[in-house]
Amino acid sequence: MTAIVSVKDLRKVYDGGFEALKGVTLEIEEGEILALLGPNGAGKTTLISALCGITVPTGGSATVGGYDIIESYRDTRRLIGLVPQDLSLEPFEKVITSVRLSRGLFGLRRDEALIEDILRRLSLWDKRNDQIKTLSGGMKRRVLIAKALSHEPRVLFLDEPTAGVDVELRRDMWEIVADLKTQGVTIILTTHYIEEAEAIADRIGVITDGQILLVQDTATLMRQMGRKELRIDLKTPVEAVPPVLGGYDLQLTADGAALSYSYDTNADGTGITALLGDLAKAGLALADIHTKQSSLEEIFVGLVHKEDAS
Ligand SMILES: Nc1ncnc2c1ncn2[C@@H]1O[C@H](COP(=O)(O)OP(=O)(O)O)[C@@H](O)[C@H]1O
Ligand SMILES: [Mg+2]
Repeated sequence: MTAIVSVKDLRKVYDGGFEALKGVTLEIEEGEILALLGPNGAGKTTLISALCGITVPTGGSATVGGYDIIESYRDTRRLIGLVPQDLSLEPFEKVITSVRLSRGLFGLRRDEALIEDILRRLSLWDKRNDQIKTLSGGMKRRVLIAKALSHEPRVLFLDEPTAGVDVELRRDMWEIVADLKTQGVTIILTTHYIEEAEAIADRIGVITDGQILLVQDTATLMRQMGRKELRIDLKTPVEAVPPVLGGYDLQLTADGAALSYSYDTNADGTGITALLGDLAKAGLALADIHTKQSSLEEIFVGLVHKEDAS
């Protein structure tokens, strides 16, 4: 795999001194769907805006298709399609005129067959002569995507494509994204919905406070999130984990009054039934048991602490 977008130590300090990107480094593979997952204010839009040439970074560098985003701005911009976070459309224009216009802005010659293909793929062909203002919110989003595709970009940025959209529309959007991937378009989308990232992304980059915390393939990240912890409070504290329980990876709390057992909820068996049987065999009386799910937030916190420690 080769990187089509390469970001090195990218920084952005806004006028007024706010540091929105604190050195972002990221490689995006050709043909993948990458979700940038992070809370509001994390810097997702700033990162996309910098890569698309809308915001000038104040440090670091980035290339798209091998071209530097600053020195070769025109070359990189031609390779990029951007679907912005806000619905910014010409209300009185017809759908097809608006999409043609977007292509024209890149100085490309008219290509009616291509425009038709894009509109058909987005189920907009029947609406091509409708004024944009008459369309539903979901259809307007499709028009934004059609416009972003009109100059045949190799990389498509979708900034919060489903924020404030109902469940059905969200699924439509996921299908559109999956379809674009089969056409060979590399897709970077931002979201603050973990379910959305899980549903469509090949890899997830977690961004918070202007920094990328991790980039990992979706399956691995979801496995980590699927871990649960079983906490077993003992009636009588023990000094050590009894040797007969050595086969389980148990942690004893400092006061010896509780054991914790971490297990994978996605695994075929959790091992809990056997563990409880063996606890009884070891002569341990239980006062209480509880389970705790590791949430994405905890993973964030864990990662942030790890960073602090290093
Ligand atoms: N033009 C600007 N001037 C100053 N601060 C800004 C500007 N744009 C965004 N910010 C700040 O930068 C941070 C990141 O914003 P943004 O990139 O929009 O985050 P996200 O898209 O992840 O919600 C936020 O704290 C925001 O208030
Ligand atoms: Mg944003």
